Amino acid sequence: MKRIFILLIAALILIGLTACAGNTPANTAENVPSTEKNGQTEPAVTEITTSSDAEETTASSAATEAVPDDTSATQTAEPAADHKTVLVVVFSATGTTKGVAEKIAAIENADLYEIKAAREYTAADLNWNDRNSRSTTEQNDKSARPEIGSERISLEGYEKIYVGFPIWWGEEPRIMDSFVESYDFGNIKMIPFCTSSSSGIGRSGKNLEENAKSGTWLDGKRFSGGVSESELRSWIDGLK
Ligand SMILES: Cc1cc2nc3c(=O)[nH]c(=O)nc-3n(C[C@H](O)[C@H](O)[C@H](O)COP(=O)(O)O)c2cc1C
Repeated sequence: MKRIFILLIAALILIGLTACAGNTPANTAENVPSTEKNGQTEPAVTEITTSSDAEETTASSAATEAVPDDTSATQTAEPAADHKTVLVVVFSATGTTKGVAEKIAAIENADLYEIKAAREYTAADLNWNDRNSRSTTEQNDKSARPEIGSERISLEGYEKIYVGFPIWWGEEPRIMDSFVESYDFGNIKMIPFCTSSSSGIGRSGKNLEENAKSGTWLDGKRFSGGVSESELRSWIDGLK
């Protein structure tokens, strides 16, 4: 009887153990660590890495794409280092006014543009003792507009333009009127200057302003050919 009881107990223990074994979680895909899904270790890790990389790649390409935008914004906002905002325009038949223009351009770190006549003035053309010389004839005709031979210049970006010329018969050479009438100066600050033997600038600046019909014109000034750099500098400083 005691033996049967022991066997019964043993049988009950065996049944109990079998039941516990049945409750062990199944080895389903859901319960496999992600790295072991599909029986592969790498894909799960790769997936995370790829996703992370993808984000990084997207962020990095966004950053890469942003660079040109930033660069172009910078280029638009800030003028190039060598961009000049001052221009010195000069007509000079014998080089005197050009010398002054070069000094002004150096002081102002400006571009220099020379107006050249399509038909250059000869010594005979410039003979003021000859009533029939080309210069005398042109100066006697307020509507004369000698043709300019130099290439046109773009005025884009210029904020200030010095306009230099010699005095002929008390006024600006008519080719200066050809020049001012063929450009739109908008709101650019226009500053006339001239050289002469002795005459002042007279009405020349006003004539140019009236014929230009654009630009904001300041009073002009006459200089001798030998004007010093310090005299020019103090005149320029006085304009600001
Ligand atoms: C046709 C002609 C007319 C001139 N008329 C005058 C004048 O009325 N008053 C004056 O002081 N100088 C006069 N000059 C002298 C010039 O204005 C002066 O020599 C000037 O500095 C020359 O400049 P440029 O070398 O840039 O041409 C005249 C010169 C020429 C050629």
